[in-house]
Amino acid sequence: MDHFLYRDGVLHAEDVPLPEIAETVGTPFYCYSTATLARHFRLFDEALDGVDHLVCYAVKAASNQAILKTLAGLGAGMDVVSGGEYARARAAGVPGERIVFSGVGKTRDEMRLALEGGVRQVNVESEPELHALSEVAAGLGLSVPIAVRVNPDVDARTHAKIATGKSENKFGIPIARAREVYAAAAALPGIEVVGIDVHIGSQLTALEPFRLAYRKVAELTGVLRADGHDIRRLDLGGGLGIPYTRSNEAPPLPVEYGAMIREELGHLGCEIEIEPGRLIVGNAGILVSRVIYLKSGEGRDFLILDAAMNDLIRPAMYDAHHDIVPVVEPTPGVGQAPYDVVGPVCESGDTFARGRMLPPLAEGDLVAFRSAGAYGAVMSSEYNTRPLVPEVLVNERDFAVIRARPTFDEMINRDTIPEWL
Ligand code: LLP
Repeated sequence: MDHFLYRDGVLHAEDVPLPEIAETVGTPFYCYSTATLARHFRLFDEALDGVDHLVCYAVKAASNQAILKTLAGLGAGMDVVSGGEYARARAAGVPGERIVFSGVGKTRDEMRLALEGGVRQVNVESEPELHALSEVAAGLGLSVPIAVRVNPDVDARTHAKIATGKSENKFGIPIARAREVYAAAAALPGIEVVGIDVHIGSQLTALEPFRLAYRKVAELTGVLRADGHDIRRLDLGGGLGIPYTRSNEAPPLPVEYGAMIREELGHLGCEIEIEPGRLIVGNAGILVSRVIYLKSGEGRDFLILDAAMNDLIRPAMYDAHHDIVPVVEPTPGVGQAPYDVVGPVCESGDTFARGRMLPPLAEGDLVAFRSAGAYGAVMSSEYNTRPLVPEVLVNERDFAVIRARPTFDEMINRDTIPEWL
């Protein structure tokens, strides 16, 4: 459920009509709903009621400080995967002790930044990284709480580009080698073993792969405890999928996911951390765009929008589906026609949808891409020297620009011309 609904025939974000935002900030723009963010965060938080837990929002899904601050205010911790994300979370006011630092290849500089600023836990993904972290921590005279990310070799049954839990993926250490790596970790200076970390992929639409992975984590907890490690935290990663179409998809609900966690891991008495990104912000954000032209091609009609693949890359990159809806509600019973919905970028990959059935649309009309809050704005680029799309946050009847559209000068003046030219 989200808060983007038609009222009096016009799509609103909470109590704000989208054309009003379009007039103020221009198009395209990303628009987020505070109420939807809060609702989705609470769904997760309440799903783990009664279990000692921390929901660490995966900053990579949408990293605007206003979003981070909204979630932190509700009690969220953060999961970051780079020095930049760490700095963003801190700038948004999140204390270090609520920040988990994940990621496959943290540099020593990034480790230093997090250790000096304070960090709840570092999730270590390889032995070389473990040694580097030990060196950095010991050098600073600190001891850093760590979990080792284990790769459980489970098929997440999701898009190949976002599956991370099979042994052929680059993530974590093979679970079969965990004892060895934990023994090494325990002997290193500056390292305090506190838990186990696992994350098997994103946009999972079934519980079974999670269950299989968590079972392996439960078993490993027993083994490591018997080896003398004080395993007191389990970081279960993110990955719960969302419905991208209104009709046929029904991924498991957070409450079902929470019940499964209790079933599989409740008896261990560990503190549970989860790192959801998409489920919190995916359906809390839309991308609003304007039709520039309607062009009739050979046997097909193209709807050319002012948004392009650089603004929302998911369709080009993962063949992802996003519902596209007109901002002015179509009159009931009006016919639909197939459109190829495209952007102005000079490659055929700049196609949002082919043969998408839509009500009649004309130049100047506004459309909204639904479910664009996660991995939308954060994956955008300035390809074709198109300015980054502004982000707007709505809260009931208020809205605020939380990232402004850069001017051409701001973009261009980032280049520097060498003296010799
Ligand atoms: N934790 C770790 C260690 C992760 O790598 C990820 C996502 C998450 C948590 C959050 O997963 P979520 O709850 O959002 O599924 N750009 C792709 C998705 C990439 C996900 C990468 N890792 C897309 O647009 O579908």
